[in-house]
Amino acid sequence: MHKIILFLFVSSCLHMHSAQASQVSGERTLIVYLSRTNNTKTIAEIIHQEVGGDLVALELENPYPEKYKTIVKLVAEENESGFLPALKTKVDMDKYDIIFLGFPTWGMQLPPPMKSFLAENDLSGKTVIPFNTHGGYGLGNSFKKVKELCPESTVLKGFSIKGGSERDGIFLAIKGKRRKDAKLQVKSWLNELKISTPK
Ligand SMILES: Cc1cc2nc3c(=O)[nH]c(=O)nc-3n(C[C@H](O)[C@H](O)[C@H](O)COP(=O)(O)O)c2cc1C
Repeated sequence: MHKIILFLFVSSCLHMHSAQASQVSGERTLIVYLSRTNNTKTIAEIIHQEVGGDLVALELENPYPEKYKTIVKLVAEENESGFLPALKTKVDMDKYDIIFLGFPTWGMQLPPPMKSFLAENDLSGKTVIPFNTHGGYGLGNSFKKVKELCPESTVLKGFSIKGGSERDGIFLAIKGKRRKDAKLQVKSWLNELKISTPK
């Protein structure tokens, strides 16, 4: 009996140790993002420079249409019906403890492919950190939805920043000076979360 208790104690300490170590080393960290016009991708790359780990773009089995008006209509229908588009991207979640989830605001919601990702992958017991870019109207209910879809995860404070506005012909907006400013903001957010830079 004592041996069992000792084993449980030691294994839980080892687990705590590995979770803490990953917060500083960047190993066992996944940064997965959805991006159409590269604003969210830019933020994902900045986070990757700061924390290391694996950087993965979310790809669909059937890519969305190029035309802005067509994708807006389709996403509105998918949001309405709860349709989850099939993903080409597959991830071995056992490899990770910390998951950064990046996405644009689509129809003031979490985009359907990110809903697919959270439906397909079990993030229980992991640390989840959302980040977002938007066209000027903010993140909508997207962070709230992440929390709802990850009930057994520790969801940390997210980061949201204005990106492009495809509707107005502005595609990648987080570049040049705006990229530098974004990098400072990302660094300060990561400091607040106590996620430190790999050496
Ligand atoms: C289908 C679609 C829906 C969008 N809906 C919104 C929205 O509801 N609110 C908003 O502020 N921006 C909206 N946008 C603009 C994007 O959130 C913004 O351009 C974002 O920075 C794009 O990120 P990306 O470059 O990583 O694709 C929408 C864009 C698309 C393509």
